[in-house]
Amino acid sequence: MDSGDLLGHYEILEKLGQGGMGVVYKARDTKLDRPAALKVLPPALMKDEERRKRFIQEARAASAVNHPAIAQIYGIETIDHVPGVDGLGGEGLTFIAMEFVDGATVRQLIQRSELDVLSAIEVGIQVAGALQRAHEAGIVHRDIKSDNIMVTHDGHPKVLDFGLAKLVDPTDAGASDESVTELQTMVMRTGAMTQVGAVIGTVAYMSPEQARGLPADQRSDIFSFGIVLYEMATGTLPFQGESALDTMHAIAFGETRPLSDLRAGLPYSLQKVVNRCLEKDASKRFASMAEVESELREVKRELESGVTRSAPVLDRAMDKLRDLTGGRASREGVSNKGLVFLIVWSIILVTLIIIVIANNGGIGGVAPFLVIGAFVYRRFRTKRSRSIRKFSNKAKKDKAVRLISSDGDSILIVLDSAPAKTFLKLNSLLESTNGGLYSGEPLQLEFREGVDEEGMRELLTRPGLLYVRDAE
Ligand SMILES: Nc1ncnc2c1ncn2[C@@H]1O[C@H](COP(=O)(O)OP(=O)(O)OP(=O)(O)O)[C@@H](O)[C@H]1O
Ligand SMILES: [Mg+2]
Repeated sequence: MDSGDLLGHYEILEKLGQGGMGVVYKARDTKLDRPAALKVLPPALMKDEERRKRFIQEARAASAVNHPAIAQIYGIETIDHVPGVDGLGGEGLTFIAMEFVDGATVRQLIQRSELDVLSAIEVGIQVAGALQRAHEAGIVHRDIKSDNIMVTHDGHPKVLDFGLAKLVDPTDAGASDESVTELQTMVMRTGAMTQVGAVIGTVAYMSPEQARGLPADQRSDIFSFGIVLYEMATGTLPFQGESALDTMHAIAFGETRPLSDLRAGLPYSLQKVVNRCLEKDASKRFASMAEVESELREVKRELESGVTRSAPVLDRAMDKLRDLTGGRASREGVSNKGLVFLIVWSIILVTLIIIVIANNGGIGGVAPFLVIGAFVYRRFRTKRSRSIRKFSNKAKKDKAVRLISSDGDSILIVLDSAPAKTFLKLNSLLESTNGGLYSGEPLQLEFREGVDEEGMRELLTRPGLLYVRDAE
């Protein structure tokens, strides 16, 4: 297909790209005089009449879903004869006409490092809303990935290709026909996709159930969404193997690296959302995308207010333990964490009892241990205030910081009107400070802007003052 060719009332302008299910062109709708994107489907796929009908039905259902973050489907058409194009094999050429999205795919934005944490979460919120709307209408996307989400130049996310993956889903009834095998072989030859027999789609975004060849429902979209969220936050895919099979194995059985290992300053609440989307067992995931959306809104509020919490100490201990045991320790919640604590405390207790017994009940032999214990305890107790002082020394280097004070659990920072990157920096500083604490609740930040002279004087009289900028 070349520029200037006519497909029905669409004039082809240029090729936009090629994926697993055909070539996408930018076109102009000559009737309505508006731009459109055309996805021309491989004729092999349309051979089977039954399949074609079901596909058109699915596309119709998808086109009925209206949401600002879903690229609208304008129509699905079959053209019997295209001027200048031979060999349609009698079946004609089927294409989907849809909204042309003027922007970049999320994958491209990630590659160009154009997604900061807040924008990533904003995209996540919009996409979650779009998926919720589709799920309510009974439509599963099946191929959520960073290539299928675009962001317009003015910052509006759009989800593409709703329900299209069903077209080549071998778990779908009647899908064992040869057209699918033919298509999959073709896809293999183009090197774009997976292996024969697997659902078409980039393997890295598959849910465990898809990887096992089981039917995908809404919860499968939630899993794939979790992968995109992870990728947007860290720039890295959570499951990656050397071959498609290795990747699928990782999806089905592997653990993911914590987000904070890959990018500093990410709130723990985001990690929790990602973890729940990526539960291997579909019944343990969020019950709906609406829940995901509201949790993400919470993460956003947290980031904007500047009060982010890092991982609780026990979770971090579990992460460390997981690293040590080569990722085999599971994170099944409290029971496991409790077990670690129980073991540590039991060892200490048994050691003490043995010492006391060895000393015939006297405490003479225990005395050195008590002294060491007291020393360790003192270090332990002062660790918190030392960490806070260190934090303050680093934070005050930012020119926007006017005053820092602390009441033990919370650190108050008074700022001149500061750019977003100051907040991100201070949050990530807090994150690493919390990472060094042994005990207690993680420290929190409270930001105040636009404090007048009287307010400053009041703050100066409070206890816990750590830093105040000299008057200019
Ligand atoms: N509606 C659209 N508006 C603008 N560009 C689009 C549109 N649809 C697709 N594209 C562009 O065309 C490229 C190819 O899209 P296509 O959907 O064929 O491939 P894919 O998303 O990589 O794979 P899949 O077949 O699994 O969806 C996209 O990466 C995007 O850049
Ligand atoms: Mg696509």
